[in-house]
Amino acid sequence: MQNPEKVQQAADYIHKSLTRPHTAEIGVVLGTGLGDWAESLTHVQSFEYADIPGFPPSTVEGHAGRLIAAQVGGRNVWLQQGRFHLYEGNSPADVCMGVRTMAALGVKTLIVTNAAGALNPQFDAGGLMCITDHINFTGANPLVGINHDAWGDRFPDMSRTYSQRLGDIAMDKALELGIRLEKGVYLGLVGPNLETPAETRAFRIWGADAVGMSTVLEVIAAHHMGVEVLGISCLTNKNLPDCMEETSLDDVIAMAQASTGKLSQLLGAVIGAL
Ligand code: HPA
Repeated sequence: MQNPEKVQQAADYIHKSLTRPHTAEIGVVLGTGLGDWAESLTHVQSFEYADIPGFPPSTVEGHAGRLIAAQVGGRNVWLQQGRFHLYEGNSPADVCMGVRTMAALGVKTLIVTNAAGALNPQFDAGGLMCITDHINFTGANPLVGINHDAWGDRFPDMSRTYSQRLGDIAMDKALELGIRLEKGVYLGLVGPNLETPAETRAFRIWGADAVGMSTVLEVIAAHHMGVEVLGISCLTNKNLPDCMEETSLDDVIAMAQASTGKLSQLLGAVIGAL
C-alpha cells in the first residue's frame, strides 16, 4: 500500500506552490499520445513530475510528465499529462502516485484515458470505447500491504468500479456529438511487449474487448478512495489473433493523436455536464 505521508507531501507541495488558489473535484489522466489536448486548455499552473516530491520520473515517449491545474469549459480540473507504468519499472504504488495525489487534492471524479488495442472484432482502430469493467492481469495490486483505513476498506467491493452514471453521461454526450462510442471490458497487463496471437485469443475468450498497459491499478486505487471513475480507451489498433498486424509505439502514438480531436470534444462535453 502507498505511503499516505508521501502522498500528503506531494499534495502539500502543490498547495504551497500554487500562485493562485485552484480547487477541483475533477481529475483527468491523459494516456499515450493523448496529451495534446492539454495544450489547448487554459492552464492555471503546471507542475513537472520531476519537481513534485515522491513522484517517479515519466520515461515514456508520447507522455509529457506534468500535473496541470487547468480549466475545461469553465470547470476547474487537475490533469495528469502522462502517467506512470509498471513496464517502466515502477512499483504499483508509484503507478498510483498521481491519482492518489489528485484525490488528496480533493478530486472526487476521475476520468482515465488510455491507448488500447481492440480485441473485439467489431471495434475499429481509431474508435473510442467507454470502459464498463476491467480485468487486472498485471499480477500487481496497489492495495497490497497495510491498509490505510482513512482512504478505504481493506477489501473494497469492485462490483461497480466504473460509474454507470458517468458512463451514461459519456454515451449521451457522444450521441449528441455524433461520435461513435463503444462499450467494453479493458484488460490491463504489464507489457512492454505486445501480445502473442495465443494471448490475444485467450483474453477475448475471457470477455475482454480491449487490451493495454495501464489504467487498472490507478482505477483500483481511485475506487478504493471512493473516487467515481469514468474510463475511455482510444482504440489505436486491431489486435485480432487470426490476422495479427505488427504494431509499434509510433503507430500507437500516431493513431491516438489522430483521435485526440474526438476525445477532446467528448471530454469537454462530459466535464461540462458534471
Ligand atoms: N496491446 C497492448 N497495449 C496496447 C495495444 C495493444 O494492442 N495498443 C495500444 N496499447
